[in-house]
Amino acid sequence: MIISTMLPGHVDGVKALLDICFGDSAWSIESIRSQMEKPASICTVALKDDTVVGYLAFEQILDEGSIAEIAVCPGFRRQGIAKRLIAGTLDDRNDLSEVFLEVREGNDAAIALYESLGFERIGMRKDYYDHPKENAIMMRKNI
Ligand SMILES: CC(C)(COP(=O)(O)OP(=O)(O)OC[C@H]1O[C@@H](n2cnc3c(N)ncnc32)[C@H](O)[C@@H]1OP(=O)(O)O)[C@@H](O)C(=O)NCCC(=O)NCCS
Repeated sequence: MIISTMLPGHVDGVKALLDICFGDSAWSIESIRSQMEKPASICTVALKDDTVVGYLAFEQILDEGSIAEIAVCPGFRRQGIAKRLIAGTLDDRNDLSEVFLEVREGNDAAIALYESLGFERIGMRKDYYDHPKENAIMMRKNI
């Protein structure tokens, strides 16, 4: 397993991964590309034999970071890939004070992942998500 900065050649692989993980609500190719090209964005992939099996889209503005998207291919879960993607990105930044994210209230796996990395619940946004409508839990980690 290799963790690498995302390159333009990974866009199709990331799209395939997000389709598997998020179905109809997966980001489009254009969204994935524009996320990668944003100056504030740091996109990372986990590669197994050149296939994208993990993806993290992280953003940083001044000393504040946020997790925009994370996904790991179902057959590769519970192997520490998401943890490596996040921890590796945070460890590389020495100018971060805090990191924020939103997660679906019912996404137990993601909430467990974030709590295992030291994120704490700081609030809730009612009906934040569509398809299906669901509340968002807001989380923060102080660095
Ligand atoms: C959430 C997700 C990214 C986790 O990826 P992962 O590579 O399996 O996570 P890791 O193996 O790094 O897990 C690290 C820790 O998080 C927790 N965790 C992760 N998945 C869990 C699950 N299904 N149930 C309970 N705890 C879980 C555990 O504490 C785990 O450590 P452990 O395996 O030693 O017990 C993955 O399940 C996924 O892609 N889900 C679909 C997409 C999604 O929901 N993304 C989040 C959007 S906010």
